[in-house]
Amino acid sequence: MVQNVATHMPELEPADFHLLSGLEHGMRFSEWVATGKIPEFSRLDDEEVDYRIDRCMDQGLIERKTIQYTGYRLTFEGYDALALHTFAERDTVDGVGAPLGVGKESDVYEARSFEPLALKYHREGYTNFREVQKEREYTAEKAHRSWLYTARKAAEREYEALEALYPAVSVPKPVDQNRHAVVMAKVDGVELSRVELDSGQVVGVLDLVLAEMAAAHRAGYVHADMSEYNVFVASDGVTVFDWPQSVTVEHTNAGELLERDVENVLGYFERKYPQETPAVDTSTIAGAMTGDGFESVDECSG
Ligand SMILES: Nc1ncnc2c1ncn2[C@@H]1O[C@H](COP(=O)(O)OP(=O)(O)OP(=O)(O)O)[C@@H](O)[C@H]1O
Ligand SMILES: [Mg+2]
Repeated sequence: MVQNVATHMPELEPADFHLLSGLEHGMRFSEWVATGKIPEFSRLDDEEVDYRIDRCMDQGLIERKTIQYTGYRLTFEGYDALALHTFAERDTVDGVGAPLGVGKESDVYEARSFEPLALKYHREGYTNFREVQKEREYTAEKAHRSWLYTARKAAEREYEALEALYPAVSVPKPVDQNRHAVVMAKVDGVELSRVELDSGQVVGVLDLVLAEMAAAHRAGYVHADMSEYNVFVASDGVTVFDWPQSVTVEHTNAGELLERDVENVLGYFERKYPQETPAVDTSTIAGAMTGDGFESVDECSG
């Protein structure tokens, strides 16, 4: 598991960040940045580079490898530190707290500012990258950009969607984005997967989830990863989160992805609440979302 880099932040000095951003820059050209190139990229002298390398190695922010030459690269923690440093400079984040969710594709932490925030570091591409690297060195060299680049693209896509959707759709309020990280409002609630709805609430909650999907479609987006794990339920409504894989309604597969999203949500309700969930057709619901508008499952049933 990746460490919460926030604990290292108070010890890091400006020159440490020069080293980290120097490596970030160098990693655009090769996966492992040759030691001799680091002074130029980081604008630190040789002696300073050696000192900063030791410090950053100790903190797990960079790693070393010797193949034909000795080189260094950022770890995810190092990349996290750069993003967090930027958020601190912009006064977006004052402090980072406990994990809110740790997954294969992201690490989400509680963060503080004038309001409770969630800080999501994207990890897309990292696992794949490791596998590639095991296979063959030169493939890894070719794919060297994958994790920095893939994770950053995911964060950018997620932020873009949140900005387009908020507040018309109930999504976490977007606050800031840098590198592979997104800062958004912290949402209170419980994941749909962990909620036990009373029989009288089932249709109401299903309607709320589908209504948010319909609103997202009106605003130009299909989530494309809808599931009981990406919806929070609270007493005042539902919030749909986790938008990095969303597509715009112009996307070639938007229709199919919308149907799959509807199917995922209906399927979950049918399995978990077979008695209460009305028999409805996926394509009828998806059709309502793209056509005249979705009102309620009851209107789409029978
Ligand atoms: N804005 C938020 N407020 C509170 N908790 C959040 C917020 N965003 C995410 N979380 C928590 O973090 C967990 C992971 O977040 P999210 O679903 O966005 O990423 P993920 O599931 O790792 O991404 P992916 O589906 O791409 O693997 C969520 O299940 C949720 O518990
Ligand atoms: Mg998720």
